Amino acid sequence: MVSMMPPTQSILKLPSDQDASGRTLGAEEIAAVTEAILSGTLTSTKGTFVKALENRFAEMIGVKYAYACSSGSAAVHTAIAAIDPEPGDEIITTSITDMGALTPILYQGAIPRFVDVDPVTLNVTAETIAPCINERTKAIIVTHLFGNPCNMTEIMALANAHGIPVIEDTAQAFLAQHQGQFAGTMGTVGCFSLQQGKHITTGEGGIVVTNDDAIARRLFLYINKAFGYGDPKPDHYFIALNYRMSELQGAVAAAQLGKLQDIVAKRATTAAQLTEKLQGLPGIATPHHAADDVHVYWKYCLRVDSNIIAEGAVGLAKKLKEEKGIFSAPRYIQKPAFQCEIFEKQRTFGNSRFPFTLAKAEAVDYGRDRFPGTFSGLEQVLVLPWNEAYTDEHIQYIADAVKQAVAQLAH
Ligand SMILES: Cc1ncc(COP(=O)(O)O)c(C=O)c1O
Repeated sequence: MVSMMPPTQSILKLPSDQDASGRTLGAEEIAAVTEAILSGTLTSTKGTFVKALENRFAEMIGVKYAYACSSGSAAVHTAIAAIDPEPGDEIITTSITDMGALTPILYQGAIPRFVDVDPVTLNVTAETIAPCINERTKAIIVTHLFGNPCNMTEIMALANAHGIPVIEDTAQAFLAQHQGQFAGTMGTVGCFSLQQGKHITTGEGGIVVTNDDAIARRLFLYINKAFGYGDPKPDHYFIALNYRMSELQGAVAAAQLGKLQDIVAKRATTAAQLTEKLQGLPGIATPHHAADDVHVYWKYCLRVDSNIIAEGAVGLAKKLKEEKGIFSAPRYIQKPAFQCEIFEKQRTFGNSRFPFTLAKAEAVDYGRDRFPGTFSGLEQVLVLPWNEAYTDEHIQYIADAVKQAVAQLAH
């Protein structure tokens, strides 16, 4: 294979969240999982590890209820099922998110109503949500993208004015804060992911949180096949799945939880260092977050101006990879979620197209002119991987790589 690297360049391998170099899995997790195995009880219906995780997480972020589940997708599905839309109801969501946050809407017979995002943060805002609220709106899902919280003050004011519950997708935003409140605790339900690349991980896993007693009951039931464990005459009360987390994952997650604050603090510190080093570079804008908020840097995003940098974010990503071995993601998910076949071709259950058959025309109008922030935001964004194991040397390496690439590409 012909190497793309010039022979004189030295490559520094950055810690990666896909292997041990960038994960905090160690002695604590091994001890906990060993204890779980030796207990002989691996189901959370009988064991203690998942329960302990739920209690500790609820206490950490200050909510009344937390329930662990099998993935971030399961968390979002559970939240939607708890809100219980009627078939054809609309659930407002963002055009830039993971598919695992969207398919649950369809599984519950509801219609995703995509709204535009702020081109700078790629987050939904009260302004982009407001025009899409109508009599069929059953819930609003907001995603705190890349670890940067949405403006929940404005979004909650809007939602409360209409009496609409808000689901916070906090998969990428453990311990992020908006005006002193933790992401995931401001809406009706918060959803978290413990998938391999998140701040803390069990490989796959999720958590849902709420302060609402009735919603909590439905969250618990939905994760447990709607079986009324502990009730005098338990039954399977409604349609639901087994979305339980196992005790093996619960043990690892509880150990990971003890490291979360440190992970978040390290990511924020190194992100601030890089931001400082990149100030004043032509055609490059560093991440923006509101002054009172805490951004927890799941990823570090640059905005690249293609009027100044040749080939924009794509050109910069190419240079970083070829010359410095730094892998980044220009355009993040490449295209708005609504341009995926599932939505464009309405591929759902057999040939039925259900629930799209119940959708109002404007709910499935994905015309480009309705999403200016989405298209311009994706065009400019360059997503750099971020990690708590980055040292001063890694930060200097990334800063120098970006500066060198910009010097070569700026016109
Ligand atoms: C914003 C967002 N929501 C939901 C999910 C789905 O989580 P999971 O992969 O754990 O199912 C992810 C990512 O994985 C995500 O980034």
